Amino acid sequence: SNPNNSVNKRLLAICKLLEASIPHYNWVGFYFRNGKKEELILGPYVGAPTDHTIIPFGKGICGQVAISNKNFVVPDVTTQDNYIACSITVKAEIVIPIFVNGKNIGQIDIDSNTPDPFTEADERFLEFVCTKVASIL
Ligand code: SME
Repeated sequence: SNPNNSVNKRLLAICKLLEASIPHYNWVGFYFRNGKKEELILGPYVGAPTDHTIIPFGKGICGQVAISNKNFVVPDVTTQDNYIACSITVKAEIVIPIFVNGKNIGQIDIDSNTPDPFTEADERFLEFVCTKVASIL
């Protein structure tokens, strides 16, 4: 997708570290706005491959965060009408937007196989990760 090699290597390293370090992070990936289009494109990730490499703004949890500019924590994915299922093992999801110069340019998306695993500590930690990511883009 995004051919920015050294940045993508660093983003992949972040995905690997998060997935390996935190037991309730089972799929970890980045989506980025595709140029000026109102769609997200999948960046580096670890976990099960997904068919959802392009997500229109508004669709799914990720597409909603592209519009809302807000964290989206889903304790139970079965409660969501506007949800894109990637794997039947996923119970919960957290999506945190990434801002560069105040603009929502992408997000980190984490799926969990554990029900209701995400706390405010995850939100604060992942917001911190996203500010660090923004600084290397
Ligand atoms: N579940 C997401 C789609 C991306 S996968 O989790 C990798 C959503 O509803 O937007």
